Amino acid sequence: MTDQTDIRYMRRALELAVRGAGHVSPNPMVGAVIVKDGRIIGEGWHEHIGGLHAERNAFKNCTEDCTGASIYVTLEPCCHWGRTPPCTDAILEHKIARVVVGCLDPNPLVAGKGLEILRSAGVECVSGVLEEECLAVNEVFFHYITTGKPFVVMKYAMTLDGRIAAYTGDSKWVTGETARAHVHETRRRLSAILVGIGTVLADDPMLNCRIESGVDPVRLVCDSTLRIPTDCRLVRTAKEIPTWVFCAQADAARRAALEQAGVTVIPLPDAGGTRVDLAAVIDYLGGQQIDSVLVEGGGTINGELLRLGLVDRVQAYIAPKLIGGAQARGPVEGAGIARMADALALDHLTITRLGGDILVEGRIRKD
Ligand SMILES: NC(=O)c1ccc[n+]([C@@H]2O[C@H](COP(=O)([O-])OP(=O)(O)OC[C@H]3O[C@@H](n4cnc5c(N)ncnc54)[C@H](OP(=O)(O)O)[C@@H]3O)[C@@H](O)[C@H]2O)c1
Repeated sequence: MTDQTDIRYMRRALELAVRGAGHVSPNPMVGAVIVKDGRIIGEGWHEHIGGLHAERNAFKNCTEDCTGASIYVTLEPCCHWGRTPPCTDAILEHKIARVVVGCLDPNPLVAGKGLEILRSAGVECVSGVLEEECLAVNEVFFHYITTGKPFVVMKYAMTLDGRIAAYTGDSKWVTGETARAHVHETRRRLSAILVGIGTVLADDPMLNCRIESGVDPVRLVCDSTLRIPTDCRLVRTAKEIPTWVFCAQADAARRAALEQAGVTVIPLPDAGGTRVDLAAVIDYLGGQQIDSVLVEGGGTINGELLRLGLVDRVQAYIAPKLIGGAQARGPVEGAGIARMADALALDHLTITRLGGDILVEGRIRKD
């Protein structure tokens, strides 16, 4: 049974870890708390990419000698040289007596070796305290480090009768302010936002992060024939916010005009040469250190990504409104699944009230 005191300090370490949201990608968010004689004497978190790890920040912030203290870390301490020296060295140098970790690090360079090194040096080690929460906080990192591909979150806002826009195409706004502010929180955490050209033509979106101190994600558009207008907001702001357009056929003059405006044009045709190859897009993004993608497209791109098994998490914002219309668009289109028994299922489900709306989210079960 896990000690209640361990749980309390690990909860504090988790609170610290999430302060790194949006600043550490593609590294994990990690928090650390140093405790001596029943008091916290040092706290730290991984603040930004390339900066000190959580453990070293906690040591730096210690208010007294930490010899014989316990350290609580949400993720197993690293034991390899990366951008910074191994944290296991720092723990041994500071003569820490007990190390409590939330979860092991699946990074093949660590994967249990961090704790092994500490144990063999005589440090008491405990792992698995608030493990589920610690794993959940870094689902993006764990996915990226083990697959080399970005974690893909599909988000949409729909009415209670399953429409993402009215039959006229009007979609502003499906949900209320609280739910829309929540979307910006997600944009802050993830590295890129992806839409199909249909959404750009219908809504002329900005796809930026409108939160103070938030970092704008890279904006991605799948646009097979480069239909994107040069006067749309994405193109007009491409010199300030990275904007990548994936295409299948790139007309030289259109490509030049977009590149002149600051857009990066990336041809990735499918086998038929007519549409963007979405699996290749995901592989390409992994190679560019993009660890996570928020899909905010319409039903066409959503349906295709789901069909290809490229979605990891779904966030459905549901507004208690009914608009009807046989022609009104739904969140997932394409041919669809023929039998209920074959439906894609979500697990790790959560339901959150956001003002007058509801957010249902979960991970796509992939077994
Ligand atoms: N409420 C919401 O959450 C929400 C969010 C976004 C959009 N919307 C609404 O959704 C509507 C737009 O829906 P949409 O389905 O047209 O937009 P979409 O899914 O964003 O874009 C669809 C387009 O993506 C392009 N595409 C490129 N590669 C593709 C591939 N491999 N597979 C499939 N498509 C590919 C296709 O055009 P090409 O073949 O020319 O490349 C396709 O027509 C608008 O009314 C908008 O307001 C609502």
